[in-house]
Amino acid sequence: MDYEERITAAEPAQGEERAETTLRPQTLRDYIGQKKVTENLKIFIEAAKMRGEPLDHVLFYGPPGLGKTTLAGIIANEMGVDIRITSGPAIERAGDLAAILTNLDENDVLFIDEIHRLNRAVEEVLYSAMEDFALDIIIGKGPSARSIRLDISRFTLIGATTRAGSLSAPLRDRFGVSCKFEMYTPGELKSIMRRSAEILGVTADEASLEEMAKCSRGTPRVANRLLKRVRDFSQVKGSGAIDPDITKKAMEALGVDPMGLESLDREILRTIIERFNGGPVGIDTIAASIGEERVTIEDVYEPYLIQAGFLHRTQKGRVVSEMAYRHLGIACDEDQQMKLDIEDK
Ligand code: ADE
Repeated sequence: MDYEERITAAEPAQGEERAETTLRPQTLRDYIGQKKVTENLKIFIEAAKMRGEPLDHVLFYGPPGLGKTTLAGIIANEMGVDIRITSGPAIERAGDLAAILTNLDENDVLFIDEIHRLNRAVEEVLYSAMEDFALDIIIGKGPSARSIRLDISRFTLIGATTRAGSLSAPLRDRFGVSCKFEMYTPGELKSIMRRSAEILGVTADEASLEEMAKCSRGTPRVANRLLKRVRDFSQVKGSGAIDPDITKKAMEALGVDPMGLESLDREILRTIIERFNGGPVGIDTIAASIGEERVTIEDVYEPYLIQAGFLHRTQKGRVVSEMAYRHLGIACDEDQQMKLDIEDK
């Protein structure tokens, strides 16, 4: 199955971005979690506003679905400016970026998602735009070619990436603020779903919110999606309210287990256990064995499997934990146990 079709995919499904906007908080006050990030940003926003300047350029990094786009929208809102949203792969030529930049108003926010996927030529235009708020445009060809400098409005670039390590050093160095997004705790996810349930006009008791939070892989996008699907089940097969019974039935029907794992997550763990004796095994080998792209495993599946303690990343490769054996109901023999003890040290 394509990972974007999974119920627990952290990437937005087609058409989902628009539906999500009704649940998206508009102010820092309503934004739940990421306290370290938001507390600092609040100060930087206030200071920039006092000076009447744009906020310094900001880099957001961390796994998908953690609310980077949402927070970028909130920053623009709190600054009282417009936001233009685009992504690295969507900007194909330097001219595309120049067109976007020349259309920004003073202090506006430009949000570039997947900024690590910008091509070189585009990235180079961005350097002078970020540093000097200017574009260097080459006019003419050959020996008579000359460069002219075009001033643009002072703006804030917010770049988002799932892989900060893939960013070139010159680009990374031009961000004044760098924010790491962490996975959400079950308590935070419960609060997010409580708020969403109220907006959607559905009642959900604490036990059900707890159950859905545990299955949400630390990700608000997954939490809100599960909430909407459980609401569907409660409407058609239940009382209309979300209770533990309908939540359990919905999760089973959706193929989401009590730890939030779906079939491909379990397949990754099972493959490492059954074909590679629990690991260590290289990521490329795992990717080839299950027929998925390496980057998809690294960016989409692994972060949660690691965070939840099912998988360890070691120098020699990936190793599953004893918890993964238990979760899949596979016996962990003594050899494997010893290996795991060593890896844990
Ligand atoms: N929806 C998505 N992310 C959220 C967050 N961090 N707080 C509140 N609602 C959200």
